[in-house]
Amino acid sequence: MEVKTFGVIGAGQMGNGIAQVAAMSGLQVIMNDIKDEFVQRGLNNIAGILAKNVEKGKMAPEEREAVLGRIKTSTGLGDLASADFVVEAATENESIKFQLFRELDAICRPEVILATNTSSIPIGRIAAQTKRPDKVIGMHFMNPVPVMKLIEVIRGLATSDETFKTTWDLSLRFKKTPALANDYPGFIANRILMPMINEAVYCLYHGVGTREDIDTVMRLGMNHPMGPLALADLIGLDTCLAIMETLYDGFCDSKYRPCPLLRKYVEAGWLGKKSGRGFYEY
Ligand code: CAA
Repeated sequence: MEVKTFGVIGAGQMGNGIAQVAAMSGLQVIMNDIKDEFVQRGLNNIAGILAKNVEKGKMAPEEREAVLGRIKTSTGLGDLASADFVVEAATENESIKFQLFRELDAICRPEVILATNTSSIPIGRIAAQTKRPDKVIGMHFMNPVPVMKLIEVIRGLATSDETFKTTWDLSLRFKKTPALANDYPGFIANRILMPMINEAVYCLYHGVGTREDIDTVMRLGMNHPMGPLALADLIGLDTCLAIMETLYDGFCDSKYRPCPLLRKYVEAGWLGKKSGRGFYEY
């Protein structure tokens, strides 16, 4: 199926990045969130990144205008009725996502694919909220979306070959490299990344090293672009905790138990960069 209009639910750090790459690939984009304030913030973020691209000589000023012109903002889910493909990038909360998928299933045309950017909620559970489980798939972008080259494409048990192919081809159109994962807790990316971050938090908790030393070991010893504690702050400590809980519950295996220090930070509202304080202060 040809995709011309691309819907994005959520205008936060993932949603506005997804809207940007979709608009840059030439698609008409509808970026939806619950409040006008949220969609405007998302749009301002995109406008700022594109302005920097123009300053750096990576983009012509007319192209910036054209990309922004392709993004329509929306605060009513009903606007998604004209979308040919929708990706949901709302808060990582099961009941919010379930409700959204039930509503989108009623609003969108029956042939429309409903993708989710979930970082760890099982695709099969989300698909079961709809009458089109064959058209539900995971399309997991990495943060920051405009920079990171990967899209993890996750097939649920019922995802059809056609849904998979359309999603894979869209990823290539976005100039990203897709990788296929099957629907098990954490998929591939977070099954590997989150236990590493969680172990870094245990190192801090046990006093093996300071935050700076833990991050320096991984940056300079393993050539990671940023240390695991700084990365946790970028992702959001609440998201890291939610993913560890999904792994722990999904496998019923104690090796995935979240570090008590991670939980303590989240309970204190120290959520990382977005709240001004996490393992570091911002
Ligand atoms: N949006 C858009 N562009 C951004 C950006 C953002 N938020 N942050 C940085 N950039 C751009 C910069 O403008 C710069 O562009 P140019 O090369 O054109 O100048 C480029 O990225 C490099 O940025 P910096 O020089 O400022 O800094 P850096 O070289 O340290 O790179 C980084 C920053 C890209 C974030 C890098 O540190 C990195 O790759 N970190 C690891 C990120 C990562 O692991 N992400 C995955 C997280 S897991 C996830 O997302 C999934 C999940 O489910 C939890």
